[in-house]
Amino acid sequence: MSDLFDLDGSVALVTGGAAGIGFAIAEELTWAGARVAILDASPDAIARAVERFDRAGLDVLPLVGDAADTTALDSAVAAVAGWGGRLDIVVANAGVALDVGPHLETDHAALATMFELHVQGALRLANATFPHLHAAGGGAFIVTSSLAGLRGNRVLGSYGITKAAGAQLVRNLAVQWGPAGIRVNAVAPGVIDTDFAATMTRDPEVAAARLERTPLHRFGTAQEVAGTVVWLASRAGAFVTGQTIVVDGGTLIAD
Ligand SMILES: NC(=O)c1ccc[n+]([C@@H]2O[C@H](COP(=O)([O-])OP(=O)(O)OC[C@H]3O[C@@H](n4cnc5c(N)ncnc54)[C@H](O)[C@@H]3O)[C@@H](O)[C@H]2O)c1
Repeated sequence: MSDLFDLDGSVALVTGGAAGIGFAIAEELTWAGARVAILDASPDAIARAVERFDRAGLDVLPLVGDAADTTALDSAVAAVAGWGGRLDIVVANAGVALDVGPHLETDHAALATMFELHVQGALRLANATFPHLHAAGGGAFIVTSSLAGLRGNRVLGSYGITKAAGAQLVRNLAVQWGPAGIRVNAVAPGVIDTDFAATMTRDPEVAAARLERTPLHRFGTAQEVAGTVVWLASRAGAFVTGQTIVVDGGTLIAD
């Protein structure tokens, strides 16, 4: 078998890694050979994730902490680097969607919270991990953005603004870190069947309208997003940087 997607010997950190898309990313990076740490704000989700890793006979470093918080991020990064002896792959995945509605009704506190996590948190994570990625001789920094950051939104407007900022963040970092051999990309999922998207996937009317506009006529799975992250993290993605890869069943390109 080709070793193009092989991550053997690398060490990864995934924020929001205890559930949904982050969990699938952590699991698939592990299957590809990486040693993976997950940072998550929910101790319960972390406990459930550890149980699932244990049942699969996989090793994981579980860390509880807020991915928006500088101190929590700094100590998580130090813990991973100490545990793994290096750091090669970083996935800024933790996210929340707090507002629903048009901008005339913008909840500015919700917008600030999402900005803190999706933008400031990703930047703080980048700052904390850069010395380790550099010391490892290069690596991959990947941000979970969203389709909501690529199209106009009636109901997820503020969330979309913060996700669009994440896509710009990866372009900036890709330019700044390219000379150090560190690649920076984003993955932009459409509707993925996790708890996060339950308001869309579990309401029959909303779901039908959404699927009507999605050429593949189904919602995505967390594993399908994780596959893209494995590609971006591995040698198979070694010439890709500064991109936002859309994983949406074709929703973005449909008329
Ligand atoms: N599910 C979708 O349809 C979809 C679509 C596009 C983008 N996304 C993005 O994908 C990412 C993951 O979404 P998901 O569907 O897996 O969500 P999820 O709610 O299923 O899981 C998110 C995980 O992140 C953790 N988390 C939340 N805030 C955190 C914080 N401040 N610090 C640390 N951990 C935190 C939660 O505890 C949870 O374990 C998010 O960034 C989201 O915006 C999701």
